[in-house]
Amino acid sequence: MALERLDKILASQNIGSRKQVGTMIRKGMVTVNGTPAVRADQKIDAEKDVISVQGHRLEVSRYVYLMMNKPKGVLSASRDTRAKTVIDLVPEEWQRKGLFPAGRLDKDTTGLLILTNDGDFAHKMLSPKKNIEKIYHAILDFPVDSDDITAFVEGVKMKDFEALPAKLCILPKELCDSGIIPSERQVQVCIREGKYHQVKRMFLSRGKTVQELSRVQIGSLGLDSSLAPGQVRLMTSEEILAVFT
Ligand code: URA
Repeated sequence: MALERLDKILASQNIGSRKQVGTMIRKGMVTVNGTPAVRADQKIDAEKDVISVQGHRLEVSRYVYLMMNKPKGVLSASRDTRAKTVIDLVPEEWQRKGLFPAGRLDKDTTGLLILTNDGDFAHKMLSPKKNIEKIYHAILDFPVDSDDITAFVEGVKMKDFEALPAKLCILPKELCDSGIIPSERQVQVCIREGKYHQVKRMFLSRGKTVQELSRVQIGSLGLDSSLAPGQVRLMTSEEILAVFT
């Protein structure tokens, strides 16, 4: 295990920002192997050293879970020789953690994306057996009607597969983009699968084209509206659990 800075480890465990944990160290709130730490850059072996914060032993997890507000124009992939990927947007401190996106959003889709190095988490989240709800907001070229809503509930039939029942509704006024787009073209879709281009294909089969698509929720985890496009932050343990509830 490589040695890492104490403040970096504490920040990676959501104890606080690098600045905040630096202050905690200076105030004597952190011990390493029973001795109060004095320097934020003290080198730590997270597998052997025992770190305590205000007397509570820290169980250092090697897993990282980040919430990203994916912007348009970047690939949901770990690396690509030509195109920019979501991993390229991750700040330096998490770059070498072996992160990958748990599930994919199309290059032009925005919104909630989870980046992690926990393969089991991603596997569980994407497993069809878990049936986890994903909620999207979309802008369409034509308004939806009651036949579309019924077709989504009954399971949209496409050439190669039949979608599971999905919920489609017109976005409430307060969530609509205020502007010239009629509200009947601004919709919310809730699906429990994640097939390639699924939402776009479901609408295409109803004769409508998705012009904008954004994921706003996975399970009961909503996108943090304070994250600007391209920003990431560590998820709390409650948020990690919320994906499955
Ligand atoms: N469905 C799509 O069509 N695209 C996405 O990016 C996600 C869901």
